[in-house]
Amino acid sequence: MTRHFPDSFLWGAATAAHQVEGNNLNNDWWQLEQLAVGYIDASGDALDSYHRYREDMQLLADSGLNTYRFSIEWARIEPLPGQFSRAELGHYRRMIETAFELGLTPVVTLHHFTHPIWFGERGGWLAEDAAELFVRYVQQACTILDDVKWVCTINEPNVVAMNHGAARIMAAGHPYPSTPWPDPEIGRALIAAHKAAAPVVRELTDARVGWTVANQAFTVTPGAEDKFAEVVEEWEDMYLVAAREDDFVGVQSYTSQPIDKDGVVPHPENPNNTLMGWAYRPDALETAIRHTRAIVGDVPIVVTENGIATNDDERRIEYTAEALAGVLDALEDGIDIRGYIHWSLLDNFEWGRWHPTFGLVAVDRETFERTPKPSLAWLGEIARDNRM
Ligand code: BGC
Repeated sequence: MTRHFPDSFLWGAATAAHQVEGNNLNNDWWQLEQLAVGYIDASGDALDSYHRYREDMQLLADSGLNTYRFSIEWARIEPLPGQFSRAELGHYRRMIETAFELGLTPVVTLHHFTHPIWFGERGGWLAEDAAELFVRYVQQACTILDDVKWVCTINEPNVVAMNHGAARIMAAGHPYPSTPWPDPEIGRALIAAHKAAAPVVRELTDARVGWTVANQAFTVTPGAEDKFAEVVEEWEDMYLVAAREDDFVGVQSYTSQPIDKDGVVPHPENPNNTLMGWAYRPDALETAIRHTRAIVGDVPIVVTENGIATNDDERRIEYTAEALAGVLDALEDGIDIRGYIHWSLLDNFEWGRWHPTFGLVAVDRETFERTPKPSLAWLGEIARDNRM
């Protein structure tokens, strides 16, 4: 049976600045890559999307998709405290205009995991004036957002709290935690930053404003109800509750994990696991959407990330088809879902690793040549037809 998606559904693919641009010399991730030479891969030139964004967007538009989610890089825009680069703001304005020219709806993320080195050196999100500093940057960013209708303030604040929480533990002389946990103090600081920035974006632009939360589609093991409640609160729900006043909330889902009496159960070894080592769980997206709805209430949902790290593009298609069937089930139950944005448009820098490939498009990292995979045309056709 053919099933339809709502009119004006956003059909897109996403990237993030540091994962595709190349040479983001002024952010904390570049700094980490230099410190951890030999332990993690470096982003280097990445995919040179800083120069090749038009080609990226053209591929997306030609496929039939109508939306491009990308991020702008704080460290380029404000390389030194209070010094804003007109040239870099101009660069991101040109990206937005290119999207419009190609008939694409831009979904702009203001912070996707990276911050300027100077911000980190002042204490990062735990500095007393972190929210103020973020808002000062956001005000500048708003000067280039004319006609942009969708803005995400901070991508996956819960993962930011997890990564910076782990760094905090190591700075105190302990080893990298075996089960990383979103640091709630950093989480509260991020919530404060979001709550300070969102009204500013609303006032200065015409955009719907929200943030995007990583959802782990947790399931409870019988007898572990208390642990489940504790984990879900600190991993997800505090960030979802903070989205109740927003214009939309972004759902980001890849896999699912059970929680037992000891906490989050690591993904068991399985030949079916993805290149991230995660369980193959295309059904996770529907669980994530339903959980988000239960916590956030009637706020419109956009799936801002969903995808799979695999070398087998057939598997990407299978995974995505099943995930989309879950979106349709949720829509049929009356959940207000405005779009589906696949992660990722390109095989990009997966935060210290190059091998987990999430892209609808492969990229040769020496020549930067882009080669669309069959999954791009497949998803583009669903988008054009708006049905499946
Ligand atoms: C992030 C992306 C990342 C993806 C796959 C999300 O956590 O927003 O930047 O590449 O998941 O790990």
